[in-house]
Amino acid sequence: MRFEDFWYVVCESKQLKLKTILQRTVLDEWLVVFRGDDGKAVVLRDRCMHRNSRLSHGKICKGNIQCPYHGWVYDKTGKVVAVPAEGENFQVTDARRVLCYDTQEQDGYVYVRLTQKPSQEFAPFKMPCYKQPGWETVRVINRFRNNVTNCAENFIDIPHTASVHPGVFRTPCASQLEMTVQRRNGSVFASYRNETTNLGWFTHFLNSQGYEIRHIDSFHMPNITSVEYDMGTHRKLFITSQSIPEAADSTLVYTDVTFNYGIWNKLARPFVKWTAQYIIRQDVAALNIQWQVIEKYGSNFANTPADTIHIFVESIRNKIAEGEDPRNLPEKSVEIKFWV
Ligand code: FES
Ligand SMILES: [Fe+2]
Repeated sequence: MRFEDFWYVVCESKQLKLKTILQRTVLDEWLVVFRGDDGKAVVLRDRCMHRNSRLSHGKICKGNIQCPYHGWVYDKTGKVVAVPAEGENFQVTDARRVLCYDTQEQDGYVYVRLTQKPSQEFAPFKMPCYKQPGWETVRVINRFRNNVTNCAENFIDIPHTASVHPGVFRTPCASQLEMTVQRRNGSVFASYRNETTNLGWFTHFLNSQGYEIRHIDSFHMPNITSVEYDMGTHRKLFITSQSIPEAADSTLVYTDVTFNYGIWNKLARPFVKWTAQYIIRQDVAALNIQWQVIEKYGSNFANTPADTIHIFVESIRNKIAEGEDPRNLPEKSVEIKFWV
C-alpha cells in the first residue's frame, strides 16, 4: 500500500467551472485541474512536454488546455491535439502526451488519484450526512505549514483546546475526562465519557438542556479525521477534515462542519462558518510554530497517556510509508483518564 493509492481532494466541485484552470500540488506532484468538453474533471501533470512551461498558466478552448508558451493543445486525456508550429504537417500520435490522472466527484468535492495501478481500489471517504435532509454543511479551506500527521493529530487532540482556543472552545478548569482509544482496521476511534458542557461560548447554544454529550473522534487512513458531537435531537455536529499532502511541510485542509440544529440550521450557518474559521486560524498558528521546531530539531515527542490517539495515528501512517497495509496492525483498545 502507498499513499498514492488513495483519493485526494483537489477542489470543491463548484470551484471548477467550465473555463476554470486550477493549479494544485498533491504528494509533491504538480497538477493542473480543469473540465473537459464532457464536463468531467481532468487532472494532468502541470508540465508541457514541449519546452516545459506550466499548463496551469494556459487557457481552455473547447475542453482542451493550451500551453501559454508556444500554444500546444492537450485534450482531456493528456494527448497533444494541436501544435501551431507544425501547421498542416501536424499529426496526432499516441507518443505525445502528458501524464493524466484518474478523477471522480463525490459529496461536492473533486478527487484525484496519483497512480494508475493502486494496490487495491479505495473509494473517497464518505462525508457524514452531507446533503442529507435536516443537515447543513459549511466548508472552509486552510493551508497549514506542517505535515499531514501533525495536522490530523491536532484535529482530534483535546488537550490543546484549552490553551490554543481559550474561551472559544473550552475553558481551562481541570476536569477529568475518560476515554477509550481503539485502533482497528486502519482507523482510530476515541470515545469520551464524563464530558461536561465545558465548551466555552458554545455551551449556551449547543447544550442549553444539559444532555449527556456523546463525543467520538476518529481517524481513518490515510488522512481523514472526524469529530462527532451528539447532544440530543437537533444538536448534532460532525467536523470532518481531509488533510491533503502538498509537500513535506505543507498540507491543504478541507474542513466540513455538518450540523443538525433543527429550525436553527439556516440561521446558524454564518455563525458556524465564522467560528470554524476562527478556531482553525488558531490551529494554523499553533502548527506553524510546531513545524519551525521540528524543522530545526526533528520530531522527538514526549507522550502522556492522553497522546495514545496520536501514537495510533502515527503507527498507521508509518505503515503506509513503509509500503505496508496498516489494517494488519493488531487491534488495540486502551482506557485512559486525563484532565483538561
Ligand atoms: S512549452 Fe508548452 S508549447 Fe512550448
Ligand atoms: Fe484546535
